[in-house]
Amino acid sequence: MNIDAYRGRYLPLLDSELKVALSDGDGLSRFYGMMHYHMGWLDADFRPVLAPAGKRLRPLLCLLTCEAVGGQIECALPAAAAIELLHNFSLIHDDIEDVSAARRHRTTVWKLWGMAHGINCGDAMFAAAFLELGRLSERGVPPVRSLDAQRVFCETCLKLTEGQYLDMAFETQLDVELDGYLRMVGGKTAALIACATRLGALLGGAGDGAVEAYAGFGENLGLAFQVIDDILGIWGREVETGKSARSDILTRKKTLPIVYVLGDPELRSLYSQEELTQRDVDRVLSVLDRHQARSFAEQKAREYSERAIRCLDQAGYVTPAHQAMYDYAFSLLGRSS
Ligand code: IPE
Ligand code: IPE
Ligand code: MG
Ligand code: MG
Repeated sequence: MNIDAYRGRYLPLLDSELKVALSDGDGLSRFYGMMHYHMGWLDADFRPVLAPAGKRLRPLLCLLTCEAVGGQIECALPAAAAIELLHNFSLIHDDIEDVSAARRHRTTVWKLWGMAHGINCGDAMFAAAFLELGRLSERGVPPVRSLDAQRVFCETCLKLTEGQYLDMAFETQLDVELDGYLRMVGGKTAALIACATRLGALLGGAGDGAVEAYAGFGENLGLAFQVIDDILGIWGREVETGKSARSDILTRKKTLPIVYVLGDPELRSLYSQEELTQRDVDRVLSVLDRHQARSFAEQKAREYSERAIRCLDQAGYVTPAHQAMYDYAFSLLGRSS
């Protein structure tokens, strides 16, 4: 079975789980409407719409891993939904933190309803994620395993916010090295993707060795995924990414291509200025070109994805869902949005 067939089976289940998790509070349909807007279910006037809802990469990986190790996906469904809720919480807050006006081809929540509502809307989704995870026990997951999952989830939340802290702190630093970059990305992106594969394996009943192998797969795939996001943030096309192009340069984000050229005197002097203009952005782009920073980042993305594949090899399963994960990992590397 190929990845599209798994997607076709999993996504309707996931969507109903998410809709129940975010169902309207009494008389608060505008508040829940903001969350439903972000999820792609409603438009800005709270009318039903079919809008881009994201790739659902993390819950797909969670359910695939569960099935790969021979588990019942119903047992992992609350974890998959909780992970997607946590991811969406992090995006709502990330768009405030990054002052981003566009996400998934649409205006961001905080741009539409203001920063205060954006923060509160994200908080609600964060809480809904924990409530959703609590449903594991209703699906027959043994209490010890469910407690384990709660701990992994909490640790992941902390790592994600640590990564976001570093991402913001680095905006005003010119001495970020590869180690610091990896710590940031390990936290803000790889931790949640590793959590998805770890919980999938754990809830599917895999042994410790396989759980670690799948977690290693998620971690390295997450690093590769963020490096590609960094490349798209500079050279991607807005019509494809659905996010504002070049904003990573304007906000002086220490993405991998930039970290690679931080020693360049022209870049250092540009990034020491009070304000950056569109012309300065063009100059940054030519510094990146001069050092072939894009090829460097692409090479790194390949390295992390090769590591991810090695972890997958080590998991020791040959089930159809396990096999589908190879294709899925490769398809993510060629993404343009
Ligand atoms: C965006 O993640 C944030 C990053 C970690 C790069 P995705 O690219 O998975 O976002 P959606 O859910 O598909 O929009
Ligand atoms: C991704 O942050 C990580 C989280 C949202 C936790 P970025 O700021 O790099 O991702 P995009 O480009 O806004 O999606
Ligand atoms: Mg960010
Ligand atoms: Mg961002």
